[in-house]
Amino acid sequence: MDFVAALNRQVARVEAGLDRHLPVAGTRPARLHEAMRYSLQAGGKRLRPVLVLATAELFGVKDDSALPAAVAIECLHTYSLIHDDLPCLDNDDLRRGRPTAHRQYDEATALLAGDALLTHAFALLAEAYAAQPILAHALIRELADAAGSRRLIGGQMADLLAEKKSDATPDELEFIHLNKTAAMIEAALVMGGLIGGANEDGINSLRLAGRHLGLAFQIIDDLLDATADTATLGKTAGKDAKAGKTTFVKVHGLDKSRQFAQHHTATALAAVQGLPGGKGFLIALIDSMARRGR
Ligand code: IPE
Ligand code: IPE
Ligand code: MG
Ligand code: MG
Ligand code: MG
Repeated sequence: MDFVAALNRQVARVEAGLDRHLPVAGTRPARLHEAMRYSLQAGGKRLRPVLVLATAELFGVKDDSALPAAVAIECLHTYSLIHDDLPCLDNDDLRRGRPTAHRQYDEATALLAGDALLTHAFALLAEAYAAQPILAHALIRELADAAGSRRLIGGQMADLLAEKKSDATPDELEFIHLNKTAAMIEAALVMGGLIGGANEDGINSLRLAGRHLGLAFQIIDDLLDATADTATLGKTAGKDAKAGKTTFVKVHGLDKSRQFAQHHTATALAAVQGLPGGKGFLIALIDSMARRGR
């Protein structure tokens, strides 16, 4: 299998899906809809939506029926980035290689574009899966749980509360990572499984894989913030140390962080091994995510 070609094909499907499933740019008020598209376009790795598509395929989905769910999760993720970058949170100027939404437009427009993308994610799920009410319900519930106050938002709050803390514990750090980041990656795998009709065992394996893949992903994000440059990342490097963030690098150091990332990647791969179908692409994708940190 040519992994790069297969990945590019999936990313292209996601990009076409984003264009198709978003209100067109000129929709009134045009400034809002332009800002939504500005943040969604070009530069994102599209990891979560590709995970939705790849997982659905494992469970036998051959058509585009997972595409609206893939688009919904990318909308939700992008909203979380727009808000994460706002001056009241991480105060970042660069995202996906371009000025952040509040830099390109203004703070109020960025706030509202984020709100709109968050809401659009659920509207899209409700509409696209209306003919399968049980599936629609399961997808909406999964995404709402992952994005809510106990998970993504809880993780963001804990991340903020742990800024400039010199005595953060490994447990606090794990809470932050599990929720601000792993929740969405777990939801991507589970939503793909739900669309493919996975049974309870399958969903449990996907959840476990997502948890560890998500932890590895955020540890690597922390490592890259400390070791890579701004041009490579498309976002400002070195900002975690400057803000006094509680990161894996701060709590455990570079070497141990790399070991933790490898451990969580291996655990995710082990969980994926028990799934049905041709797992080659998913395994190669998890490997490529792990290689980012090296
Ligand atoms: C960035 O996510 C935020 C984290 C959870 C680390 P990604 O690294 O997936 O960002 P994009 O979507 O490719 O821009
Ligand atoms: C972001 O974590 C997590 C969410 C957006 C939910 P970070 O603050 O580490 O992400 P980056 O480094 O800005 O992409
Ligand atoms: Mg942040
Ligand atoms: Mg940030
Ligand atoms: Mg980061």
